[in-house]
Amino acid sequence: MAALGMLTSANLNGGQKLAVKYFTVAIALFGAQVLFGMLAGIQYLKPDFLFGILDFSVNRMLHVNAMVVWLLFGFIGSVYWMLEDESGIPVVGLGLGNLIFWIFTLAVVVVVVVYLLVQVGPGEQSSIWLINEGREYIEAPRWADIGIVVCVLAFFYNVAATFAKGKFTNIGGVLVMDLIALAGLYLAGMYYTPNISMDQHWWWWVIHLWVEATWEVLVGCLMAYGLIKTMGVRRKIVETWLYIEVALMFGSGILGLGHHYFWIGTPEYWFTIGGFFSALEPIPLVAMVVHAVFDAGHHKLKSSNNPALGGFMHTLPQINLYTHGTQWTASHGHLAFFGAYATMVIAFFYMAIQKWRGDVWMGANLVGAWKWKWAIFMLHAGMITMVMAMLVSGYEQSQIERAIGGSTWMAYFAGQEHRWFMQGMFWRQIGGWMFSIGFVLLVWDMITIGKRETRAAYVLPTETVTA
Ligand code: HEM
Ligand code: HEM
Ligand SMILES: [Fe+2]
Repeated sequence: MAALGMLTSANLNGGQKLAVKYFTVAIALFGAQVLFGMLAGIQYLKPDFLFGILDFSVNRMLHVNAMVVWLLFGFIGSVYWMLEDESGIPVVGLGLGNLIFWIFTLAVVVVVVVYLLVQVGPGEQSSIWLINEGREYIEAPRWADIGIVVCVLAFFYNVAATFAKGKFTNIGGVLVMDLIALAGLYLAGMYYTPNISMDQHWWWWVIHLWVEATWEVLVGCLMAYGLIKTMGVRRKIVETWLYIEVALMFGSGILGLGHHYFWIGTPEYWFTIGGFFSALEPIPLVAMVVHAVFDAGHHKLKSSNNPALGGFMHTLPQINLYTHGTQWTASHGHLAFFGAYATMVIAFFYMAIQKWRGDVWMGANLVGAWKWKWAIFMLHAGMITMVMAMLVSGYEQSQIERAIGGSTWMAYFAGQEHRWFMQGMFWRQIGGWMFSIGFVLLVWDMITIGKRETRAAYVLPTETVTA
């Protein structure tokens, strides 16, 4: 047992040491996301800001790509964090896992540097292979796509082989199945066709089916583990919920894919299918909120997945006709990604830090607790301010640009120049500053939390793991 309050890797098992590396890169990329989001937000207010140096399109791309990658790093880290504990044996192929971590990180750095160096240019086969694929969220060039697939396969091997050699808990079983789907869907986004409708069709297989099916199940597994570890919730309860969630999620999420097929040139039956099934999607999310009730008052698990409920409003084709691609969408995207995924990964960061600091006390009356409290508060308050502000702008756009202006090119600009739109964008930036302060506090807190503590962690009554 390591000294209390000291950062000691000796207190971590092999998988956890690797997890800490993934978490470190995740936090750096989270910082990049915030930085480029702020720059993109400023450009809404001052369109010539950094024009020709760092254009909006590049800032926006870096912002959303950094998000996808930091969340993926956070997920991979979280899985490695729990892997040995859950399976009962050391990670199989840990050396490979470590090698892959460095390759993956290096590839991300190269991709980002190329994004920054080659901001404009012709779109050719070579640019798809070397620079940018042009698919929102997964812009990474083809060489990196292939690299990502290799890294994910290696990760999958580590996870599946460890559970297979140790023991397959219910969480482990769901996780392994989910990783197959997660990796398999990524391949759909690599299919190249010059037909834009077809391209969008397959692209949504990655984007929608990741966030509204496979990622949700993945955080379901993480949450199940986290609840057992931090709250001592009985395994049977969380695992039952996990199975119910999986069933509901795949039941509604797969056909819910139709809510992205409304205006991209796919057949009209998607209006009915998409509208109906995606309206059912919030059900599993509500079920997840029930989980979150367990979390109440506990700082290490801040997740509640209800924010994605915001999606419910614009998921019916009759409404989506007016809101499609406006700031409504951006508002929903921010709340959903932050609420469902960022909070979950942050929870794992804290679980990791506690153990890394020699299992120090992190309960009530923690020394210096104001920092995490303010960090979490500013992140949430900033996010809510941003989301509300974007919603105001989104309402204005649906009214001026769509309902009154009839979606013409002129009406598009009338909507963008309107006073209410600009006010919404101004307040989004205020929210962004709040969020940025929250992020700085979060990093500061993660570096210092538990340092001056002398009490040992509260030991939860444990139960024996049953396979
Ligand atoms: C954690 C879960 C979710 C996440 C992370 C998420 C995220 C997002 C994001 C980022 C977009 C924008 C995509 C783009 O760039 O075009 C989007 C669009 C959309 N989402 Fe979600 N979403 C989630 C759940 C839901 C749910 C449950 C519903 C419906 C009940 C929903 C309905 C929609 C609709 C209708 C659109 C298209 C908006 C448009 O037409 O512009 N989402 N979502
Ligand atoms: C300082 C905080 C942030 C600022 C100022 C900011 C700003 C922005 C801006 C300006 C855009 C482009 C919107 C557009 O094209 O109209 C954007 C897009 C996006 N941001 Fe952020 N952002 C911040 C934090 C976050 C966080 C923490 C998340 C999620 C964890 C996030 C997720 C997204 C997503 C998913 C999109 C794409 C939305 C869509 O396509 O509809 N952002 N953000
Ligand atoms: Fe969706």
